[in-house]
Amino acid sequence: MSRFIDKPVAGAGIGLRSTHYQTIIENQPKVPWFEVLTENYFGDGGLPLHFLEKVRADYPVTLHGVGMSLGSADSLDRDYLARLKALAARIEPTYVSDHLAWISVDSRFVHDLLPLPYTEEALANFAAHVREAQDFLGRRLLIENPSSYMGYKETDMTEWEFLQELVVLTDCDILFDVNNVYVSGTNHGFDPIEYLHALPKGRVKEIHLAGYEEQNNYLFDTHGYRVHPPVWDLYQATIEYLGPIPTLIEWDNDIPPFETLLDEAGLAQRVLDSMDAAA
Ligand SMILES: [Fe+2]
Repeated sequence: MSRFIDKPVAGAGIGLRSTHYQTIIENQPKVPWFEVLTENYFGDGGLPLHFLEKVRADYPVTLHGVGMSLGSADSLDRDYLARLKALAARIEPTYVSDHLAWISVDSRFVHDLLPLPYTEEALANFAAHVREAQDFLGRRLLIENPSSYMGYKETDMTEWEFLQELVVLTDCDILFDVNNVYVSGTNHGFDPIEYLHALPKGRVKEIHLAGYEEQNNYLFDTHGYRVHPPVWDLYQATIEYLGPIPTLIEWDNDIPPFETLLDEAGLAQRVLDSMDAAA
């Protein structure tokens, strides 16, 4: 029998960050679930894992990674996958996710999630990697749409067409980041609502919300601010279209007091509840 709480991921959760471990363990706040950054828990033991297991005893948890590099032409890193599989066996996450992106070439790694050219060739490569990872891990992945600032002249399909095909080819699920769609839509000039309406309903298992930063002529996805009003509007439209999908407040830079995150999650929960009330 599992030593962890057995509850589904539902409602508005919060990204677990080390500065809040103590507050959460001592106060057991009313948060429905937490998401952690996978690679922070790859050590065999140590304090992060100790705290994560304590949190996991009382809350459902999801694993969100940046290191799979599924879009790279390099082969998948089997050592990375083995560590992820061991972590998943230990923590029993509801979902495991990574990005529609690549971070390595010829085994050299960069620290940013880089966008892909949306071509048939890139799709075949990405799909083969998702299938390989899913087979190895023995579970479905959630793939998240990235925020991006550049495109490729080779691209011959939209990002949402690429995602639609990917789901067909791999049977994966989707993590829909509403902030990322807003940021990319503004930077590249597409309509986020068109993207939303192209999502395969039933395949979006999780939503992300975060705050961007306004630069001179583009939006920069820093995850260091409250969610901006146009992203809340898009979130409302998303929930109206997809239903009350579990939603995460992501905050990775300039981490605020836990109360600020609770407040943001409360705003998301209100949108989710308004759907339940309308149903
Ligand atoms: Fe995200």
